[in-house]
Amino acid sequence: MPTRPEAIPVLDTLDALEAWRNDQPGPVNFVPTMGNLHAGHLALVEHAAGEAAVIASIFVNPAQFGPGEDYERYPRTLAEDLQALASVGCDAVWAPDVATMYPLPEQSRYSVLPPAALAECLCGAHRPGHFDGVCNVVMRLFWQVRPQRAVFGEKDYQQLVILRRMVEEFSIPVTIDALPTVREADGLAMSSRNRYLTESERAIAPGLYRVLGTLAEAARERDPGTFEALRLSGMERLDALGFKPEYVEFRNAENLGPPDGKNDRIFAAARLGSARLIDNVAVTRQSCL
Ligand code: PAJ
Repeated sequence: MPTRPEAIPVLDTLDALEAWRNDQPGPVNFVPTMGNLHAGHLALVEHAAGEAAVIASIFVNPAQFGPGEDYERYPRTLAEDLQALASVGCDAVWAPDVATMYPLPEQSRYSVLPPAALAECLCGAHRPGHFDGVCNVVMRLFWQVRPQRAVFGEKDYQQLVILRRMVEEFSIPVTIDALPTVREADGLAMSSRNRYLTESERAIAPGLYRVLGTLAEAARERDPGTFEALRLSGMERLDALGFKPEYVEFRNAENLGPPDGKNDRIFAAARLGSARLIDNVAVTRQSCL
């Protein structure tokens, strides 16, 4: 008879988290999420499991959503998430409410500001303050959980670069691991926001990855000086498929500066109906990660 996974402790106060943390005899690995978990998130948890105890956080962080974005309608599916986490060996879930994470009003809080060169390009140019909100919550999460290792996805590649830099700048004693984007069979990057797509939009959505893949392939043969024409053709192709592209850009994979032909990636964000989809693909095979 298959054994039912045991219920995972859901910690929702700092005291409960502290007690759990102090009970761990060995290293703790950490997977921060906003919940509504899919196979992409679960791959991070599976990677984190092993010798160490694994804790995932589920917190829909209001500070990283702009006015008019989808904070209110962001899917909250705690019961399903707990079942999924139990099935991949997660040991505990940190699920604070907003008042626990942010006891003080915004104007009274300390905050961490990521550098403009990393946080105001690509998605940061279209979502002002988004990465400030991400850094602030991840800084808090790191000090609350004090993990040895934290696992992130390349799906949110700009976030990954910004958080790696934050850890380095502040000498935060955590190792960051990054995993490749988990995709649906047709190439669409898994995302909690895919559920905003209608059936006809869902059929269009994998075009984003296809376009990026084609551009990355073409860029491999070319000098970075010619990437601008490729970039523009990418915008046009997304537009023709029915997307409203926000940006298509080639960037250095390590510092998000101009592409140098050695370690570049192509990044895109596009609106499709009420969903905003992002994706990125390596141009050169070697990666900084
Ligand atoms: P969320 O979007 O829930 O993502 C949590 C983690 O899962 C991130 O590291 C993200 O890159 C990773 N992820 C999402 N989709 C993935 C996919 N298809 N394949 C692989 N990994 C994937 O990112 C956030 O939450 C928040 O900004 C957070 C870091 C939790 C701070 O609030």
